[in-house]
Parts: sequence; structure tokens; C-alpha cells
Amino acid sequence: AMSASVKSKLIGFDPVPASTADTVVVPKGYKVDNLISWGDPLFDGAPAFDPSGDAPASSQALQFGDNTDGMSLFPLSADRAVMAVNNEYTNVEYLYAHQGKAITADDVLKAQNAHGVSIFEIKKSSTGWVVDRSGQRNRRITANTPMQLTGPAAGDALLKTAADETGTDVLGTFNNCANGQTPWGTYLTCEENFHKYFGSNDDTYTVPAAQQRYGIKGADKTYQWSKHDSRFDLSKNPNEPNRHGWVVEIDPMDPNSKPKKRTALGRFKHENAALMVDGSGHVVVYLGDDERGEHLYKFVSKDKYIANNAVHNRNLLDEGTLYVAKFMAVDGELKGQGQWLELTFGKNGLTPENGFNSQAEVLIHTRLAATQVGATTMDRPEWVAVHPNKQTAFCTLTNNKNRGKKDNQPVSGPNPRANNVYGQIVRWAPAQGDHTRSDFVWDLYLIAGNPSLHSTGLLGGSANITPDNMFNSPDGLGFDEAGRLWIMTDGKYSNSDEFAGMGNNQMLCGDPESGEVHRFLTGPIAAEVTGLTFTPDYKTMFVGIQHPGEKLKASHFPEGGMSKPRSTVVVITREDGGVIGA
Ligand code: FEO
Ligand code: CA
Ligand code: CA
Ligand code: CA
Repeated sequence: AMSASVKSKLIGFDPVPASTADTVVVPKGYKVDNLISWGDPLFDGAPAFDPSGDAPASSQALQFGDNTDGMSLFPLSADRAVMAVNNEYTNVEYLYAHQGKAITADDVLKAQNAHGVSIFEIKKSSTGWVVDRSGQRNRRITANTPMQLTGPAAGDALLKTAADETGTDVLGTFNNCANGQTPWGTYLTCEENFHKYFGSNDDTYTVPAAQQRYGIKGADKTYQWSKHDSRFDLSKNPNEPNRHGWVVEIDPMDPNSKPKKRTALGRFKHENAALMVDGSGHVVVYLGDDERGEHLYKFVSKDKYIANNAVHNRNLLDEGTLYVAKFMAVDGELKGQGQWLELTFGKNGLTPENGFNSQAEVLIHTRLAATQVGATTMDRPEWVAVHPNKQTAFCTLTNNKNRGKKDNQPVSGPNPRANNVYGQIVRWAPAQGDHTRSDFVWDLYLIAGNPSLHSTGLLGGSANITPDNMFNSPDGLGFDEAGRLWIMTDGKYSNSDEFAGMGNNQMLCGDPESGEVHRFLTGPIAAEVTGLTFTPDYKTMFVGIQHPGEKLKASHFPEGGMSKPRSTVVVITREDGGVIGA
């Protein structure tokens, strides 16, 4: 029988309790299978995973990358599909037998091959969905795959390097966090913490202020790419960081296609790209910049989407207008109005007097432009999801220890708590349901908290947070077609102090109408739950389990025993074959 706690008509599963177990737990009547794990071969004849850490870079180039994150499914038929999956980063403590203590040139290449995107065909077998290693579309995209910079910033002087005098030919993508999918059949992969991969072998090199805003530093301790690959040495290639931090569009159906970095969508630490076709026909993409005190963005295409016209739609993301959000609160309330501020050269102070000489510079230095126009500093905008009825959109604001501490991050509006350790989800509705308009209203769908510790006040969370569903640091976010809001967490898994009773990272299901939130899944030890896609019938859900056992914590997920923990995409189905969550 259904748990008495569930009132929502949208939600039909028995919620699961918080867990500290080293496994994936789902509700009664659901099952979990593994689809693919870090190091699994992607091609016929590719080497099997070698848990010793001694396998060469050439093996990793033919295997599933590390740290599975955002992903999208592209159906080919009822029983075949193409999966595109981000491989955000790699854990050196598991990648190498030396755990990162003696990184060689081949080690650097191996890490570069563990990053990027894995594309592979899957097929439905008698035991469920499995990887087809002979799939014609299987492909690894890595930190060295040739790509093209397109849109207004392409070719700008700030994008030119010694190896590329055109400012358009760039190698690779890395720190691919979350994703997006277009109705014209392409995949969007978002470059997030690109700053971590650069360093300078010349101690006297000074990082320009505009790059410091993105966290670029001379020191390169963890990955050490700059020591063995001069492309990442800032003193030799000072503009190389400007060629990263973009949204990249990939055609998953053509393994020979060249990925395109779409500069019109701005350069920052991109989380995901929540793309929708507005009622007007324009393509609207919502974009979060995940860093403390950074911003929430919106792109509106100049041209309109035309169904079934792939040639027309192909470059829709190259021309349009980028905006950044400003939130205003009704006095004393956790709701209010907002404005999208245009980031166009010559407008809103984006002029040479203020350091902006072209639209290319506005886009390459998007963060500086957002500050110039007076955007609201946010509690780390992670994923955005648009409700299928297109009336509202949601963004996870995962946490922010700087809130209330730094002058530019006062407690206000949708960021209502100092030293925000739990996070919240902001929701906005564009005026008249028109996502191209610059005015909207907002409220908070939920404020995460610990009501067992705090019976009153915002630390206990909003009314829809209870001792039975509490969690911290909402991050991944996605809707299914029925309007269930799936929330994934990337929080503290200590299960103690402020986080007591929350257990491991998890996935919850929300009803945006009633506000109800119920826990659907719990992840293994020291893992994040991130990445979500469905089959078109919504009877199969794919979920990413990222970095189980990170920093040498005691996880052996997914294989158990004394095995090395591995990031894994899991497949969730119902024993009765029904729709997930219903
Ligand atoms: Fe890769 Fe902001 O998470
Ligand atoms: Ca994330
Ligand atoms: Ca996160
Ligand atoms: Ca992560």
C-alpha cells in the first residue's frame, strides 16, 4: 500500500528512507541495473577496465570516461538509441596506481582521455538496455578532439594562440558538467570548471584580471597538465583559457562531425543548458554559472525554430541575445519580480569606457559584463529545468558559504540565508508565459534545511521539507513529461552535525503544484547523484552515480567485494513495466 505521506496524484511510489549504504536504493517495485562504468570498453576489441591504474592513455581513449554527469538519450527506434554522456573530470586517486603522486606525460594524456563526452549506442536485450560496442555512432570526445569556435566571438584576437592564428580551431572540451538537448537532434555539453587545468611554468607570469575572475591561477597541482602539455602553460599560451568555458553543440548521429563551441551563449562555468522552444518560436536557453556569487543567464535566438528543417535550425545558437537575471524581492517576502538585463555591446554600460570593445569581448568576459549591468549574485546556480507546460522554470542554488560574508553577496531575494549550507530552488514565471520577455515573477519552490535540528526559522527549511525527505545541496534537476520534478543532490554526506539524518546523496521527486517532495533514490558512499535521461515512454530512467568513494573513502560501488569504486550510469525500471515515478 502507498505510504500515507504521499498525497500528490503525480507521485505513486513509496518514498525510501535516508541511507548510508554502499549501494543504490530505489522504492519497492523498482529495480536497478548497471549500464556502463568508468573504463568499460566502448568499441569492439577495446581493452577491458584494468583496476590496477597502470593502463595506458591509449586504453582510456577507447573506454567510457570518468565521472559520469549530464546525459541525453537520442532514440533510433523502440529498442535502439544513442546515449551521449558527459565525463566531467577524473579522480587521480583511482586513475593512477600512484594516486597522483608522480604524474607523467602519458598520465596527462590518460586524464585528458578520461574527460569529455562518451557517445555510444544502446539496445534493448532480454535483460534490459545494454551497450552495443559495435554501434556505428560510438565515439569518444576528449580534451584533444578538434572543435570549432563559432558565433560572435569566433576569430577574436583574445581567442588566438600560437597554434591557431584564426581563433576558431580549438582542441577539446573538459570539465563537461551538465547538458542540454535540442529538438533538432543535437547534444549540448557544458564546460564548467575549466580553470583547474591551466598553470604556468614561469613563476613571473601574471594572470590578467579578466582571467582571474574565472579562477585562472599559475599553480597547477592536481592535474599538472601544464607540466607536460604546453597548450595548458599560461606563460606560453595566455589565451588558451579563453577558448574554454563555452557550451558545445555535438551531432551524436555523425561520429565524424566537428563539435561547435557556441560563443553566443557566453563564457562562464556552465552548469547545464535548459533549452526550450518558446511559444513565439524563438529558442530560449537558460544557463547557470556555478560559482559562489555568480549569475543566472538566458539566451534568446534571433531566428525562430522551424520543425523538421535541420539545415535552418543547425546554427540557431550562433545568433541571438544573452541576458543575465536581476531579482527584486517584495519587502519581507521570499518572492518578487525580476528583470533580464541585456548583455549587448553598446547597451547598459557595455562600452569601451568600461572596458568592452566589441560583442566578442562581452561574450569572452561574460562575468565582467554581468557585473557591469548589475546582475544579482546567486548561491551557485546549478541546473535549470523548464516545466513541460512552459509556464515556469526552476534553478537549483546549491549552497554558498560566502553569502552574507562578502560585500557583493548580501542576504537578499532568492538567496535568503547567510553561510547557506543547504541550498534552495528558485522558480520563475515569465510574464504571460513568454520566455523572450524581460520581466518575470519568482518565488522559492523549496528551501532545503534540517527540520530535525531547527524547528523554526529558515535553517529548518521550507514547509515542504520534513525529517522524512530532508537533503542538502540540490544540484541536478529535470522534468519528465508529466511534470514530476526530479532533484539530484551533490551535498555533504557526513550524516552528522548540520547534515544529520540526510545520509548519502540522493534523488527526490517533487510535485510543483502541491509542493510535495519525496525521496526516490539514495546513492552509494561518497557519491554524487547527477545526470538524468529517460526513454520516450518514460518507463526507463537513466541516472548517473558520480565518483563513489571519492578521496579514497570506503566505497566498492558498483561491483562490491574489494573492487575499485567506479562512476556508473544505472538503469531504473519498474517490475510491472510502468512509468517511473507514477
Ligand atoms: Fe559540475 Fe556545478 O556541477
Ligand atoms: Ca552539478
Ligand atoms: Ca554541485
Ligand atoms: Ca560533481
